[in-house]
Amino acid sequence: MFKRTLITSALPYANGPVHIGHLAGVYVPADIYARYLRLKGEEVMFVGGSDEHGVPITIKAKKEGVTPQDIVDRYHKMIKDSFEELGISFDVYGRTTSKTHHKTASDFFRKLYDKGEFIEKTSMQLYDEEAGEFLADRYVTGTCPHCGKEGAYGDQCEACGTSLSPSELIDPKSALSGSTPVLKETSHWYLPLDKWEPKLREWILENHKEWRPNVYGQCKSWLDMGLQPRAVSRDLKWGIPVPVDGAEGKVLYVWFDAPIGYISNTIDATPDWEKWWKDPETRMLHFIGKDNIVFHCIVFPSMLMAHGDYNLPENVPANEFLNLEDDKISTSRNWAVWLHEYLRELPGKQDVLRYVLTANAPETKDNNFTWKDFQARNNNELVAILGNFVNRATVLLHKYYGGMIPAAGDFTGSDHEMINEVKETVATLTADLDNFKFREALKEAMNIARIGNKYLADNEPWKLIKSDPARTATILHLAIQLCANLAVVFEPFTPFMAAKLAEQLKIKELKWNLAGRFDILPDGEEIGKPELLFEKIEDETVEFQINKLKEAAARNQVEAWKPAPVKATVEYGDFEKLDIRVGKVLECEKVPKADKLLKFKIDDGMGGRTIVSGIAKFYKPEDLVGKEVCFIANFASRKLKGVESQGMILSAEDADGRLVVIGPTGEVRPGSSVS
Ligand code: MF3
Ligand code: ZN
Repeated sequence: MFKRTLITSALPYANGPVHIGHLAGVYVPADIYARYLRLKGEEVMFVGGSDEHGVPITIKAKKEGVTPQDIVDRYHKMIKDSFEELGISFDVYGRTTSKTHHKTASDFFRKLYDKGEFIEKTSMQLYDEEAGEFLADRYVTGTCPHCGKEGAYGDQCEACGTSLSPSELIDPKSALSGSTPVLKETSHWYLPLDKWEPKLREWILENHKEWRPNVYGQCKSWLDMGLQPRAVSRDLKWGIPVPVDGAEGKVLYVWFDAPIGYISNTIDATPDWEKWWKDPETRMLHFIGKDNIVFHCIVFPSMLMAHGDYNLPENVPANEFLNLEDDKISTSRNWAVWLHEYLRELPGKQDVLRYVLTANAPETKDNNFTWKDFQARNNNELVAILGNFVNRATVLLHKYYGGMIPAAGDFTGSDHEMINEVKETVATLTADLDNFKFREALKEAMNIARIGNKYLADNEPWKLIKSDPARTATILHLAIQLCANLAVVFEPFTPFMAAKLAEQLKIKELKWNLAGRFDILPDGEEIGKPELLFEKIEDETVEFQINKLKEAAARNQVEAWKPAPVKATVEYGDFEKLDIRVGKVLECEKVPKADKLLKFKIDDGMGGRTIVSGIAKFYKPEDLVGKEVCFIANFASRKLKGVESQGMILSAEDADGRLVVIGPTGEVRPGSSVS
């Protein structure tokens, strides 16, 4: 019923490079699907591009002392080039700072405005009087009300992960001038999502029950909570100006303009763009990560319905998240594998990354990438199963027949069995691809290579070449046809290998309907020299990557550390009230049934005292005996786990968060005052 497919992939923010999480979640699956449809001979448009607006870009620019345009120019190029090198086969890769996009997004807003689809509302927002600007949530920093860390943003505290609103911050400051922001009235345009709620319900909850459970479930819970009008403009300088009189200083909200980028980029790709967006026989698919679901299933569709001329997406195969070495990928902590670095450090291994990310695709739940698994999948699957089969078949063909494909004789039971197994596997693989189950599909593709290995092992052509040359010819004929099948079915997943193999086998054009056939290659065809399709990856290679990750994370921790701010001013008299003394540890032991506490016997020059301190995790008791420490001598004594503690030992946190006891550096008699 559909004539053609428009595939969109989330537009990455041009404020940093892309990492394996983006690839596994969005770009690799979208590319697999686009390539698959092209192999089927279907009409496809695969749209990508950079998302170049939004506050984080302006913050990055300010930090570096450059313009936002400089930032997006840098990362747009970097992202575009690295996608291309990975073989992501976009038909167009645009950017939201393009002229076309500014016009398309403005016209879109204007159309909704003229149709009366927006409501205008005023609200109080934080304003920097010194800078004369309204402040986006990210531009307000302060102390987190939950964990007490300084430097929390107005939308989130990165230390404890809590979502915040700027009004919750303790002692809020503007990131522009450092001044304390004030509340000021401003007006914005809102898209009343509630108006579209009944239509959205029917469209998703009734008519798209086939969507992935994670996507359907998220939509249902949003719809069940009830939709609210959503602001589509912001008081910012960086963005597309709101095309309405009296809207100076206001731009379109980035999540309003970005999805329109899919339309703009299609316009840049073809003058015939309207058929891709308006013809009901076009099927639109959005490939995205789970954090984008609400925008692609609720907000953008409401915009499209309000506009009236456009199709809604037919499916939104959103993925969950990919972890790295069992830990959340984090740009700020530099816990990531960056695509541009991978391409530089592991040249020629694009297919391996594509393969491993698909094998661990976070389709139904979060998944994990580890370098050990990367190595194992390369060595045990790509090399040992796929590469090995193709190599054996092509080497034997060259050895026995000078590379010329022999005609087959009559098929035996074993031949029929192998052929049927391949056909069945292709059918399952095709169904998996049709249902966006790329992880399963890849398994089936690899199973075809497994079938090949088993076929050779069972039939042992190397034993028959002398005694039964006719049988050997049939076996190798079929084995080489099986290689041709592998070139076809692996093309969506590992296109570089597929192209190399197709060239070696002299297949002019790979097509999906060749899969499952055993007459792909003509008798008598001379195939190219055997070449290894994959190389083993050595321990050193992955160890280098693991160390690099650890070092980057450690460096990042050191860089991120800031001393706590200095407390409010006090008088000397306040200090004098505290009696800080030097003491010497005479005995130290664990407090029973308290895994944090150590009990000290301290020589305080006054007959000794007992102090309990919560540093058991960081020291062996015996290592502390004989050490000099500073302690507070005039705290009222208190009971800790049944032990009377007469003071407090002073300590500080080291770079790893461990407590270190602080003592004098010179010889000082126990009982001396610290002042
Ligand atoms: N830049 C957004 C992100 O990385 C995705 C934008 S998708 C679009 O989360 F549809 F808005 F373009
Ligand atoms: Zn916090």
